[in-house]
Amino acid sequence: MHHFHYAGTGLQCEQVSLETLARRFGTPLFVYSERTLTGHYQRLNKAMAPVDHQVCFAVKSNSNLGVLRVLANQGSGFDIVSGGELQRVIAAGGDPGKCVFAGVGKSEEEIAFALRHKVYSFNVESDAELQRINRVAQRLRRRAPIALRVNPDVDAKTHAKITTGTYENKFGIAFEQVESLYARAARLPNLWLRGVQMHIGSQLTSVKPFVEAVRKVAPLSRSLQQQYNIEFLSIGGGIGIVYDPALASGRADWWTSPAGRKILTPERYAQQLVPLLKPLNLRILMEPGRFISGNAGVLVARVEYVKKTGRKNFVIVDAAMNDLIRPAFYEAYHEIVPTTRSRTAAIPTDVVGPICESGDTFCKDRRLPRLKEGDYIALLSAGAYGSVMGSTYNSRPLPAEVLVRGNRVALVRRRQRTTDIWADESVAPWSR
Ligand code: LLP
Repeated sequence: MHHFHYAGTGLQCEQVSLETLARRFGTPLFVYSERTLTGHYQRLNKAMAPVDHQVCFAVKSNSNLGVLRVLANQGSGFDIVSGGELQRVIAAGGDPGKCVFAGVGKSEEEIAFALRHKVYSFNVESDAELQRINRVAQRLRRRAPIALRVNPDVDAKTHAKITTGTYENKFGIAFEQVESLYARAARLPNLWLRGVQMHIGSQLTSVKPFVEAVRKVAPLSRSLQQQYNIEFLSIGGGIGIVYDPALASGRADWWTSPAGRKILTPERYAQQLVPLLKPLNLRILMEPGRFISGNAGVLVARVEYVKKTGRKNFVIVDAAMNDLIRPAFYEAYHEIVPTTRSRTAAIPTDVVGPICESGDTFCKDRRLPRLKEGDYIALLSAGAYGSVMGSTYNSRPLPAEVLVRGNRVALVRRRQRTTDIWADESVAPWSR
């Protein structure tokens, strides 16, 4: 369930009109629904209740401090991939003791920082990294909690750029090598073998690959528990969401694809996985990002120009690929709706941004109601991998972000000032 819906003709986030927000804070503007964030968190938590578990929200999907605080207040832990993300979690009031530190390229500084803050576990991706963590821990006179990231070699059947669980990817340790690497790790004095981790990809819309991967990793985790007394298994993130038209077709529930496809719900996920996980008697960690934040955010933009060329209708808006790169980068579909519902007939429309690249396109020939200058549109499902992947390309300042709870509104990120973009730059002394 999400909380973006039309009330009369106006699109609302919870009880607040998006158009009012757009006028008050300007555009482009990210708007997040707190009820949607907490609803998703609680729904997954409830579905997984039969096993001892901890949800660790993937900070990479949305790292806004306001969003992190909402989830920290719910009891969420965090999946982090850099020292910067750990600093954000701390700044937002999250508990480092509920953080798992992932990623193939952790630097010595990042490892030391995370050790000092006592993260729950380092998810280790190579032999060289094990050695490095052991060395840093020795220097700091600590024992570093670690889990090896197992690559189960399962095809997640998702977009090539976001699949991670096969041997074609840079991630994890090949399944066949895991046992011997644990044996080596056990001989390193400053490591504490605390768990095992896997993650097979993102935006998975079927439970099958998860089941396949857990089936493969379960006997391994049992053996690791017997040998080293590990306490947890992390099954990673990757639960997919529905991006296709739902709101425009009058459906209020993004869990139901209009094509009637069965999609991945937390209940279906839990129903299939709990029977495999419960007998392990391990603590189960999950690292969902998109599932929690994806449909909890929209990007609101204003129509600058309408332009007809030949047979094409272009709607040029003030948001661009630097604000939401997913369509340009992954050919991702984001539903686009006007913030004021109109009865005009739909026409094939290309919604594009002002950036000087043809890739700066949000949709092509999509049937949308006729839009005119000054109208506002919302790009839906922009709460995950939206703002976090933003850049200042074309010297465009990063958008403002607001969080809505009921009828309350908080600015959780001020719009970047244009001069801030080059605040850290300077002219070489010889060219003054
Ligand atoms: N855990 C690990 C180890 C991961 O690599 C990821 C995502 C997650 C958890 C969270 O996955 P989620 O639950 O959000 O699917 N920028 C891309 C997605 C990249 C995902 C990278 N890893 C996109 O916009 O689709």
